[in-house]
Amino acid sequence: MSFLASTHFHIFTWVVGIIFFLVAAVLARGSKGQKITHMIARLFYVLILFSGVMLFIEGMKYDEGALYGVKFLLGLLTVGFMEMILVRSSKEKSVTTLWIFFFIALFGAMFLGFKLPIGFTFFM
Ligand code: HEM
Repeated sequence: MSFLASTHFHIFTWVVGIIFFLVAAVLARGSKGQKITHMIARLFYVLILFSGVMLFIEGMKYDEGALYGVKFLLGLLTVGFMEMILVRSSKEKSVTTLWIFFFIALFGAMFLGFKLPIGFTFFM
């Protein structure tokens, strides 16, 4: 299995991406620091998606039915909520519900990722 289709690379991309997202979320709205961290977070969205798609293709070798499709969707939703939270809060709109959706999608993506057969398998 190549590095680009490895769970180590995928985990690296979402851990770093979420850290930049969280920093951008707590920094002052419209500040230079926030713009930069948001931009870096966006770069990591692309890497999260890329590594996720590589793993998805790899996962088609396993007989897990629709679960890989669900993992794809949950990962995509997690990234979507991250971007929506940053964009909506920069427009001073409410993001409380989006934070709840973000945590649900994140928890689901992590649970399913660790359950599926590639990489770490914590849940049977
Ligand atoms: C912030 C968003 C995401 C988080 C937190 C996340 C989390 C995880 C975790 C914890 C794993 C398990 C790693 C391991 O078993 O070693 C994983 C694997 C995987 N992820 Fe993601 N992921 C995210 C985004 C995505 C996206 C966008 C896609 C699809 C485009 C995707 C597709 C996959 C696939 C196919 C696997 C392999 C599942 C397996 O067999 O273990 N992920 N992800």
